[in-house]
Amino acid sequence: MFRTLTSPNPTEFAGKRAIITGGSRGIGAAIVQRLLDGGATVATTARNATDETPKAATFIQGDISTLAGVQAFTAAALNELGGVDIVVNNAAAARTHLGGISSIPDEEWLDALNLNYLSAVRVNNALLPALREAGPGSVIVNISSGAALTPVPPLAHYGAAKAALNTYGKALASELAPAGIRVTTITPGNVLTPGADVIRQNFADAMSVPLADVTAGIPLGRPGDPRDIAEAVAYLASDRAQWVTGANLIVDGGELPVI
Ligand SMILES: NC(=O)c1ccc[n+]([C@@H]2O[C@H](COP(=O)([O-])OP(=O)(O)OC[C@H]3O[C@@H](n4cnc5c(N)ncnc54)[C@H](OP(=O)(O)O)[C@@H]3O)[C@@H](O)[C@H]2O)c1
Repeated sequence: MFRTLTSPNPTEFAGKRAIITGGSRGIGAAIVQRLLDGGATVATTARNATDETPKAATFIQGDISTLAGVQAFTAAALNELGGVDIVVNNAAAARTHLGGISSIPDEEWLDALNLNYLSAVRVNNALLPALREAGPGSVIVNISSGAALTPVPPLAHYGAAKAALNTYGKALASELAPAGIRVTTITPGNVLTPGADVIRQNFADAMSVPLADVTAGIPLGRPGDPRDIAEAVAYLASDRAQWVTGANLIVDGGELPVI
């Protein structure tokens, strides 16, 4: 069980403007809430808000799986916040294919790349002038997945898109370091969220095992809570991580068996 933390420093992000994709639920909603709790002003997007969507954030309805969708969202978010200091690319989706990798339709490979990889590239491209204006200390955090490091056939398209995100993030970190803009990646393991719960249920059904078996082998003894990832984002987005760039922080309860 997630142990409640002492209150975060309510002024750590005072004056900071954060743009976070996919903040309507799950990990994204926890990230939005964590940065709000630290004093940031936040804009987020998703196709639909939910009861989980933090009310204190500006919610901009949109679909960022296309270039036009990204441009509409980033323009609206910049207009709302007047600039940006922190970008978190969190929105993603995956659909399991249990019939073999070749059963994943071409269209779905393109969808996976567009949403899980290119949306981050496009968001960052659109926000880079504003990040440069914000200057040293501004930061990008890309949310990747353990599926990039431990590829599984039913999610090959999603894992490949996230692996591309990892490589891209590393290159971007090198390019932006001289400007003092940091780029980091977080690799979550199994975190209990609405989107991932559906995927885990598919795996459980395919293996004819109870849902709990899918997350039974996590060394720290429990699946992740969205706040576990939000805390990692808060660290990487803060000046506490001012000498950290190009890093990929694995937050998975010890599940990944290699470095
Ligand atoms: N939970 C896990 O176990 C786990 C493990 C590894 C990595 N991750 C990564 O963590 C991040 C969050 O995952 P999650 O489990 O919190 O997922 P989730 O519960 O499915 O939430 C995904 C968020 O992205 C938004 N989104 C999806 N498609 C979108 C689109 N086309 N345009 C705009 N927003 C869109 C969703 O809202 P709408 O659907 O309304 O658009 C929602 O706000 C993702 O990058 C995921 O790959 C999660």
